[in-house]
Amino acid sequence: MKRVAVFASGTGTNFTNLIEQNDINADFCLLVVDKEDAKVIERAKHKNINTVVIPRKNYDKRSEFEQVIINSLENENIDIIVLAGFMRILSKEFVQKYEGRIINIHPSLLPLYKGATAIEDAFLDGKNIFGVTVHYVIPDIDSGEIIMQEKVLGTEGLTLLEVTEKVHELEYKLYPMALKSILNK
Ligand code: GRF
Repeated sequence: MKRVAVFASGTGTNFTNLIEQNDINADFCLLVVDKEDAKVIERAKHKNINTVVIPRKNYDKRSEFEQVIINSLENENIDIIVLAGFMRILSKEFVQKYEGRIINIHPSLLPLYKGATAIEDAFLDGKNIFGVTVHYVIPDIDSGEIIMQEKVLGTEGLTLLEVTEKVHELEYKLYPMALKSILNK
């Protein structure tokens, strides 16, 4: 069974959703968090998942910070890295080390609306194009081969909050599907 690490920085709803699926043939054995106060830490405690909190501010250089992450991944023999709201840019060296084994979820129809405020950007753009993309991670941000992508339908006239909820609902469907598809490769 493949050993999976999830990386998260915030609330962790995608993390919880993934680990609660009972038809994913993977062992979620590690959560990597870069913020001491991230809500996702509590979620992992309830689920008894080994969690390492590695605050970026504790290290002068990004390479030192990433080396601590790599050590944790190697200790746990991780095969696949799942980024779920990890709000930190990983170096080219790190990404290349795990290329083909690291995936991300982004709340837009990439290549539209890259970056940390994708739903808001799409909303302000007024074109009513919302969606979710799961893709392999490459050194360029929010790029890389698309594994699955789907449009959010029925968003006409909704508020930003309502659209955001719909986008998240689609994330909870798409991320497990996409992960399963790469596990079966
Ligand atoms: C999600 O919208 C995901 O697409 C983006 O960050 C958000 C994480 O939410 N990359 P959560 O922490 O899983 O609740």
